[in-house]
Amino acid sequence: MKNGLEDVIAAETQLSDVDGEAGRLIIRGISLDQLVAGSSYEGVAALLLDGLVERSFDETQLREWLAKARTRVFDHIRTADPSLLTLPPVDAMRALIARLPDGEDFDTALALLAAPAVFLPAILRLQCCEQPIEPNASLSQAADILRMLTGNAPSKEQTAALDAYLVTISDHGLNASTFASRVIASTQAGLTSSVLAALSALKGPLHGGAPGPVLDMLDAIGTAENAGQWLGEALDRGERLMGFGHRIYRVRDPRADALKGVLKPLIATGQVDSARGALAEAVEAAALAVLKVRKPNRLLDVNVEFYTALLLEALGFPREAFTGVFAIGRTVGWLAHAREQALEGRLIRPRSVYIGPLPAAA
Ligand code: ACO
Repeated sequence: MKNGLEDVIAAETQLSDVDGEAGRLIIRGISLDQLVAGSSYEGVAALLLDGLVERSFDETQLREWLAKARTRVFDHIRTADPSLLTLPPVDAMRALIARLPDGEDFDTALALLAAPAVFLPAILRLQCCEQPIEPNASLSQAADILRMLTGNAPSKEQTAALDAYLVTISDHGLNASTFASRVIASTQAGLTSSVLAALSALKGPLHGGAPGPVLDMLDAIGTAENAGQWLGEALDRGERLMGFGHRIYRVRDPRADALKGVLKPLIATGQVDSARGALAEAVEAAALAVLKVRKPNRLLDVNVEFYTALLLEALGFPREAFTGVFAIGRTVGWLAHAREQALEGRLIRPRSVYIGPLPAAA
């Protein structure tokens, strides 16, 4: 057996394919670069859910329903337990999502798509003693998230950047959180339960919890000249470099380059500090060089979390909220996989090998 289940095929899916040798991600037959160039978050959500829920719809219809669902779930903010506000944002978000009804139907799925987008900005504002801002049903999910976060209308470059981020991270094969979602779905527990399990898996630093620590690393390194030495010392201490390495990719994670591309218009229009971008590129280059020397037997390259960190910082999210923003984008993948698993109908129940002591009689 393999402790991390690497190379174990645990599901058949029509949703996405991660080719770790070629560095390619396909979502429902469309390559990531095409999706990022041509689709909105609502478009990808419609694509992923197509045929897996009881209603059929297109991007425009989903945008309208989702906007109304954001307004409905906002009521949970009005009645939220104030003690939630002392929790880290992703934990507060999880607690609020846990209050949604559990079910298999499309309305449950819609509420779950809307809830993280509404809850995270509201939690962040309440934690800074500011009033949460009600959703605006005339906006796209990306534009409304940014408006609910800051209270201001986002620029078109900011909206496009968040939209492209949500598209980029919408689904990614059988990663840890998606697997968790499918396991729960296989017990017929309900979509809210699947999303809660997946969110709990996502928050770990080896999965979706890495981008906050990426910024901590950039801050600690400070200047391009320090990068090589700082990174070498981190590896000497046995630490992992956040934003590098991946279970499946043996080349660059294609999502990293997609997000690097998304940052360009923000840098060009002065909405991202170009010095910050240059530092990140220098740290990336130094990390790749040091990893090549220190880990010669393992091909380690940059992963999605590295440029996620820069992008979400530029869009005004505090670093403790980055995992929550990831969850906003990934929920549709969790839901699609949960439905695919539920429709397939087989309980997931692997076996373990007992290596403990035996009773004397045995
Ligand atoms: N920094 C330093 N060394 C690393 C890193 C890293 N980021 N990633 C892997 N390695 C090393 C390991 O120490 C190990 O070396 P060893 O054989 O000398 O002990 C070797 O590479 C293989 O490591 P594994 O643990 O087998 O790799 P695995 O495929 O399980 O790890 C993971 C994948 C968890 C993502 C890992 O690369 C990591 O910890 N990266 C840093 C955290 C991170 O960026 N997480 C986000 C991932 S993307 C996402 O989930 C959305």
